Amino acid sequence: MTVTEILQLADQLVFAKRGKHLDDLQESIIKGVWEDQTYQEIADECNRSESRVRNVAAQLLQFLSKELGEDIEKDNFRSVFKRLHLSSSQNQNICQKGNHNFHYSPQILYNSKPNNQENITNNKSKSPHYDLTLAPQIINFYARESELKTLSHWIFNQNTRLISILGLSGFGKTTLVKKFVDINLQQFEVIIWKSLKFPKSLELLINDLLNVCQQESKATIDEQFKQLFSILAEKKCLIILDDVQNIFIPGQFYGQYQTEYQDYQNFLTMITEVEHQSHVILISQEQCPEMECLDEELYPIKCLELSGLSDVNILKNTGLNDEDSWSNLIDLYEWNPMYLKDVAILIKDIFDGNVAEFLAENSSTGILPVVTNKMRSRFNQLFNRLSLIEQQLVLELSKIDQPVSRENLRESLDLSSMDFINGLQSLQHRYLVKKIKAETILFDLSPVFKEYVKNCCQE
Ligand SMILES: Nc1ncnc2c1ncn2[C@@H]1O[C@H](COP(=O)(O)OP(=O)(O)O)[C@@H](O)[C@H]1O
Ligand SMILES: [Mg+2]
Repeated sequence: MTVTEILQLADQLVFAKRGKHLDDLQESIIKGVWEDQTYQEIADECNRSESRVRNVAAQLLQFLSKELGEDIEKDNFRSVFKRLHLSSSQNQNICQKGNHNFHYSPQILYNSKPNNQENITNNKSKSPHYDLTLAPQIINFYARESELKTLSHWIFNQNTRLISILGLSGFGKTTLVKKFVDINLQQFEVIIWKSLKFPKSLELLINDLLNVCQQESKATIDEQFKQLFSILAEKKCLIILDDVQNIFIPGQFYGQYQTEYQDYQNFLTMITEVEHQSHVILISQEQCPEMECLDEELYPIKCLELSGLSDVNILKNTGLNDEDSWSNLIDLYEWNPMYLKDVAILIKDIFDGNVAEFLAENSSTGILPVVTNKMRSRFNQLFNRLSLIEQQLVLELSKIDQPVSRENLRESLDLSSMDFINGLQSLQHRYLVKKIKAETILFDLSPVFKEYVKNCCQE
């Protein structure tokens, strides 16, 4: 188990028993004990007294020992959790659904003793239907503890029916959601992962969903809707739609449905309005109005906008040298794990893995990110999806080295006030422009994208 999984498990156990989540100190203790830190070191990091840390740790370890039926102490913490993971993964019939490996589930650990399979597969998973054929397998997973916690809270405590995971390509949206699925597999009776990389009509999608649940689709789309919503009400289902941006019209402002996918709009609205016990997670590089929530009380909708991955371990096993320079490299590439993987290959090819040498290469002009060929081809696609107004805005923003105010940006462009404001909003909803709150509000392009526009789009 990773420390993220242990935190998740401990949080669920504490929540189930006490109705509240792990607090910051309890989290720091679990992380510290896992890292083999002394109580004094943990106390120093959290600005607490050693005795306070000792007391809270003793209570927490006692609680975990009781809940997991193991004698867990500071000294055997790592070995106990490794063993629990092993015993859970030996239950192959439960842990392996479809083609993918499932690493742990609270229920499995909870009942990790043999001959207890009735209890292990609790009522909910008596006849689970999973289609994770197109979901990626997660091998390395770092950080994102708070994002996983937020997702759990929205789904299991707040019963949020529609959740969007948003952000630029490469920040780890798909990975995060798949990780969430892996660790919560047992909590759902139906899990269906659909990629809209090559989008399909809603009718075909609903047919697929009914198929997974072994129901024959009725003749009309109305009847199929009814069928689907009665499943969503009867069973706890999780439907994930990845790469949703592909159902929106390219060359226009953000989030407008292509005619053949217009039905998705009704579907998403119904997901929030009709009463049921299921959840849809949308993963997208672009927002649409159905994802926006002005009144949280009224609409059970949530958005998680992913920012960078704050863990230098993302560069582990990439074959790069100069660990001292890694954090500079990570900063330069906005903590985006996909950019970092791309640039790591370039640094290995051209600089023999020497990060410091790569960073020194163009330091005379202030260090700027190098846009790799792979990044360039992805950005080409992104740039071509923009409306002409957005392209003008982006080109103008790329000429200015600093973040710029709305008024200053407006002056340099020949656009009507309405086009200018709508264009700026659209770029924000695609995560290409950032709003910076200073004395006045400033705007800037995402830095790596800015380098791409400067170097590759000027003609
Ligand atoms: N939390 C993470 N830990 C380790 N690697 C990650 C993490 N999140 C993303 N990655 C890696 O970064 C790359 C991009 O992630 P992905 O989930 O495909 O991004 P997105 O869906 O936002 O485009 C993948 O190669 C993935 O393995
Ligand atoms: Mg993705």
